Amino acid sequence: MSVENEKKKPLDVVILAAGLGTRMKSDLAKVLHKLDGRSLVNHVCETAGTLAPRKIYVVVGHQAQDVQAAVLSETDSEKADFVLQKQQLGTGDAVNSARTFLENDDSTVLVLSGDVPMIQAGTLASLKKAHDEYRGRGAACTVLSVRLKDPTGYGRVVRDENGSFDRIVEQKDASDEEKLVDEINSGIYCFDSKKLFSALSQVTNENAQGEFYLTDVPLILRKQGEDVAIFLCSDPKEVEGVNDRLQLAAMEKVIRRRTVKKLMLESGVSFIDPKSAYISASAAIGRDTVISQNVTIEGKTVIGEGCIIRPGVRIVNSAVGDRVEIKDNSFVTDSTVGDDCTVGPMAHLRGHAVMIEGSKVGNFVELKKTTLGKGSKASHLTYLGDATIGEKTNIGAGTITCNYDGKNKHATVIGDNVKIGSDTMLVAPVTVRDGAVTGAGSVVTKDVPAESLVVGAPARIIKSLKHAEE
Ligand code: UD1
Ligand code: CA
Repeated sequence: MSVENEKKKPLDVVILAAGLGTRMKSDLAKVLHKLDGRSLVNHVCETAGTLAPRKIYVVVGHQAQDVQAAVLSETDSEKADFVLQKQQLGTGDAVNSARTFLENDDSTVLVLSGDVPMIQAGTLASLKKAHDEYRGRGAACTVLSVRLKDPTGYGRVVRDENGSFDRIVEQKDASDEEKLVDEINSGIYCFDSKKLFSALSQVTNENAQGEFYLTDVPLILRKQGEDVAIFLCSDPKEVEGVNDRLQLAAMEKVIRRRTVKKLMLESGVSFIDPKSAYISASAAIGRDTVISQNVTIEGKTVIGEGCIIRPGVRIVNSAVGDRVEIKDNSFVTDSTVGDDCTVGPMAHLRGHAVMIEGSKVGNFVELKKTTLGKGSKASHLTYLGDATIGEKTNIGAGTITCNYDGKNKHATVIGDNVKIGSDTMLVAPVTVRDGAVTGAGSVVTKDVPAESLVVGAPARIIKSLKHAEE
């Protein structure tokens, strides 16, 4: 078949993710362990998606439903399908579980490992290209290999005297001489679908582990006179597998360094101590923002330009505008902070808290599902939950929205230019209208009309402020 036709063949991806991962010593399936805050399997799915395959088949087994849910949390259900491998009899058996979907199609099958998460899109594209173009007609199989300083644990790619593919030998089956080979099998391959499944039928489990090895397929193909190619990847880091927690932590470090470096060089972000900043690769940070030591930024957080993020701050899945200062040891999650706001120290924003432009939240203040209006302030020791607060309003120290009656949550609405006195209890549902004032220690159980002063427990109107300024 010509190269052109080979390229036109549809591409399907099979991701092996059914194993438990014994070496992780975990109750959690290995591919559900997190790297940069996301399941290992999702890193692989995302990268596979860049090749625009027809379908991604994820082979699941251990904790199948959880793995499936993890994948679907990031990948469209139209793009991913799941294949159940009932018993984990080896990587060959895992691919074989997708047989009914793939064997009758004239397609290219890209096999990926759910535990090789750092593989890059460009490398997979080059592998596919090499596979399609091998000897001008395409190979039956192309193995992605890499040379490692310490190849221990991996399957070795053994070449013949001409330097062509001979076989893959697993660590546990390798002779002393074979163990010296430093070129390893990445567990990533392109196959001609029909040839793959016909060879898989011939794989046996006569080996040290009693498993059906996918790694026997290239050898079977070669013996049938088919072309088996090797694509040697230059970056060992990309093809490292996660088999234990040590490797996982090492990989985490590599990603983190890469992210911080990119933010410094490409986005113009300053880091006081790059080593102690934990920034997710999915976060975006604007120019001239300064990240202090021990800052953690997770998920799809977006931070604007010219911000200062002080030591010990953690921000998760939130949006922060420009020129915002987030002071020491604050925690912001699932929230929005507008331009020119200040937060903290020791503040807590959660549950879709929204701070509008120029507002301020001070120390020991918690905002939950609350909107704090433009220029408004809650500077000290306050809980604001299920509240909507207007513009230029001041919330005195020790204010609490009593939003929960033991069964349900209720809303508090506070207007513009309101002064909530220190230690006010707002017993929701309740509304305090524009220009109103509550005295220190008031317990507000009824709505407060505009421009009136209430005091006491329960709070009573003692004065209208309408003419006070005249
Ligand atoms: C495999 C390769 C090895 C290669 C290494 C690269 C085989 C026999 N060996 O070894 O040559 O150097 O990857 O990382 O293929 N899985 C299933 N079902 C199973 C068994 C495994 O879905 O029955 C999945 C696992 O969840 C994992 C992947 O396949 O995501 C690889 O399995 P693993 O047991 O980690 O293989 P290695 O020993 O690392
Ligand atoms: Ca592995």
